[in-house]
Amino acid sequence: MRKKIVAGNWKMNKTMEEALILASEVVNMVKDEVSTEVTVIMGVPSLYLNTLKSYVEGVANVSLAAQNCHQKASGAFTGEISAPMLKSIGIEYVILGHSERRQYFGETNEQLAEKVNISLENGLSPIFCCGESLSEREAGGYLELVASQLTASLFHLSAEDFAKVVIAYEPIWAIGTGVTASSAQAQEVHAYLRQHIAGKYGQEVADNTSILYGGSCNEKNAQELFACADIDGGLIGGASLKSREFTTIAKSY
Ligand code: PGA
Repeated sequence: MRKKIVAGNWKMNKTMEEALILASEVVNMVKDEVSTEVTVIMGVPSLYLNTLKSYVEGVANVSLAAQNCHQKASGAFTGEISAPMLKSIGIEYVILGHSERRQYFGETNEQLAEKVNISLENGLSPIFCCGESLSEREAGGYLELVASQLTASLFHLSAEDFAKVVIAYEPIWAIGTGVTASSAQAQEVHAYLRQHIAGKYGQEVADNTSILYGGSCNEKNAQELFACADIDGGLIGGASLKSREFTTIAKSY
């Protein structure tokens, strides 16, 4: 059975003091209120990962994610963080290919394939983001476009490695806009992606792949979205910055 996952993406928010408060509140609320069948992940700024590790240790269903890593293991890449560094502090997940990385930092499908590879080599599970812009949706062909992002960055993997990847479908027009995809719109893409994965790796692998929805997911709409057959949780931006709201989303199953 595939995992149910609610992952927060804090992006470039919170000072250290604020981060410690938010993380400890989330961990405590999750311990008390969220089923252990739901994996809760906090995607925090890299600077805080090592400190926050002690907060999640011993809590079976809470983990940390980095928000990015470089595609090379080490070297002269000022300001970057590598997968071996994340491994060395015991991080389990890394968000890759977020639309903000693609848009503002020019990350390409090819570069993302390299980031996926180095993450897996270092025991990190990628949370691989894909999604179409509004103009791409309006032009039609968005299903094929989103599927092609998976093909280009993931389909070189062995089935064994692919099984370690979490997919996050995030329509760009829904990110940070307050406009959520309807559950029918999200389900359409999720089902298409699962079928696309089945075409490459077989039905069993596809059925075991967690596909998260992201884009203005909040405590009001999470329940309806997560009730869809092919939606296995969420990647939550703005609403992950408030412990009560984030926990409520994690409880939405
Ligand atoms: P949002 O962000 O929930 O604020 O729309 C989602 C994301 O970018 O992962």
